[in-house]
Parts: sequence; structure tokens; C-alpha cells
Amino acid sequence: MRKKLTRRTKVLELLYKNNSGYLSGEELSKQLDVSRTSIWKYINYFKEAGYKIESSSKLGYQLVKPADILLPEEIDLELDTKFMGDNIIQYDQLESTNHLAKEKADDGAREGAVIVAEEQTAGQGRIGREFCSPRGGIWLSCILRPDLKPVLATRATYVVSLAVAKTIDQLTELAPSIKWPNDILIDDCKVSGILTEMGAELDQINYLVVGIGINANIKRVDLPTELHNKATTLYQELGYKIDRVEFVQTLLKTIEEVYLKIRDFSSVLKEWKEYAYTLGQDVVVTSSRDQISGRAVDIADDGALLVEVDGTKEKVYSGDVSLRHRNLKSEN
Ligand code: BTN
Repeated sequence: MRKKLTRRTKVLELLYKNNSGYLSGEELSKQLDVSRTSIWKYINYFKEAGYKIESSSKLGYQLVKPADILLPEEIDLELDTKFMGDNIIQYDQLESTNHLAKEKADDGAREGAVIVAEEQTAGQGRIGREFCSPRGGIWLSCILRPDLKPVLATRATYVVSLAVAKTIDQLTELAPSIKWPNDILIDDCKVSGILTEMGAELDQINYLVVGIGINANIKRVDLPTELHNKATTLYQELGYKIDRVEFVQTLLKTIEEVYLKIRDFSSVLKEWKEYAYTLGQDVVVTSSRDQISGRAVDIADDGALLVEVDGTKEKVYSGDVSLRHRNLKSEN
């Protein structure tokens, strides 16, 4: 379902439709039923956001070049979701989209709200790690409010990691895989990570904030040196820059499609396993408390990784997985 467009977004839509020529202020104000002054303000909003728009007092306005940013109006133009991305808030720079999303969720933000930043100065990774988030990537957090017990919160991580893998699969010629629990790899190197955080009562989730980081239009050399042999970027793999707006539109749509099946988790897992990197392999899982070695055989209904150790299947809920007989490049 296409989102109802705001007047400001409709200005952008009309500019795109007419980008081979000028569109007069009069025509815009007639089509949108607002004053010429309002149109001028809308145009200035886009100019300030970095859009190159020629203005001529006689001819009107012409869109010359859109800005390379994840502007909500730009995403809204082709966003085909029921609720995901209903409210997108974009920042040029933030410490962490997850931090802000948690604040917004605490303040009652609706399910489907999205916070996106062009750059993060203190991006958060799993287990208290830093997550490098320079310009050109896609750094966003979604607020979800599933009607689930807190023990089932990990399902959201499966939903979103599957959605990221499917989006890369759909929009590029790359073959993504998912390393349990939530790293997306291309050719053994990490291209995307997911951090799920929760606000909950003992028996009910209030909200989940699912933060997604995608190394999109970044050169590998622009990542920290220590990541050069274990992380990659879409740009590095493809040799060209992706359309980040299209990527976010597809990602939000795919998250929504998969998320709507979260109660029927077996169907989500079935698809997830098609991308699974770790299943069937001999692994070592290191958590803050211990380390176990065995064969990763399956995922349990509650999202645990089942590792077979001496004939017994053990459930693992968190930790870092590495392959036993091989040095997986993405290990960190
Ligand atoms: C990991 O791989 O350790 C998880 C990385 C999650 C990074 C994303 S980027 C958007 C959101 N904001 C954050 O601070 N972290 C997540």
C-alpha cells in the first residue's frame, strides 16, 4: 500500500515528473492547492537538504540533481508498506540511531517508526562493541512492538537478518549468507550487522529497537584497517554504488513482510536457513561465560542455535560463532 504523500513529498514527486523542464510556481501551487509562498518554502527545504534545483522567476523550478541522502520524502515516494516506515526521521549525524530510537520508543513512538542517520559517531555493535558507521553506509533503527514474551525477542533478529539478506539478494547479483545470529556475509566477509535491543516487562515486550548497519557505498579502505580482511562493502563487491533510497524502500518492505509472519516462526526459520552460513558446520561458540565446540545442527523454535556436542544437542542463545577448521574472515 502506497503511503499517503505529504504536500512536501508531492512537490518532490512533481519535480521528478517534470525534470526535463521547468515547472512553474503557479502550476505547483494550483496542483497542490497551496500558496506560492508555501511552494517556495517547500523548494527551499529541498535545496537546504542538498538538492540542486534551478529557480527562475519567469519559468519556475527545475530539479537538476537530487541529494545523495536518505531523505524521508525521497523514501516515501516509492514506499509500499502498511506500517513500516510510517514515520521516518533522518539525521545528518547521530551518536547512534539505536540510542535515539530507544528514547523515542520510551516516549511512545509507534511501531514502524524508523530513525536513520547519514553517519554515526558512536555506532553500537553487539556485546558493547563499537560499530564503524561512516557516510555512504545505511545506518537505521526500526521500532517494533511485537505481541510476544521477552524470551522470544530474538525472533526479531532472525526476521531482520533474513530481510537484509533477501534485499541484497533481490537488488544485487551478490550471494549473501547469514552467520548466526545476525551477521550478513558476502564471500566470508561481514557486510552488515544487526543489534536488537529491548524494553520489556517480565512477561511482555514493550518495544524492540532493531538497528541495522549496512556497509553500502563505502570503500573498504575507508573502514578501519583492522576490518580490512574481515569486512566488506556492497561498493567493494559490486564495483558501483547502489541506490541507497531504493535499498531502504525494499528493506523496509521486506522487513514488514517477514515480520508479519513472526508468530508463525517456523516459516521464517525455513527461509532463514536457506541463507544460513553456519548450519551443518563444526563450530566453536564463544560467549562471555564459556566456549563450546560441536556441530551446529539446527535452530530451535525459540531462536537458539542447536550445537551437537558428543551426541547431545545443546542450546546456545548468544555468543560469537567461528568455524572450527577454518578461520572465518568475518570473525572479530
Ligand atoms: C554488530 O554487528 O555488532 C551489530 C551492529 C549494529 C549496527 C547498527 S547501525 C544502526 C544501529 N545503530 C547503532 O548504534 N547500531 C545499529
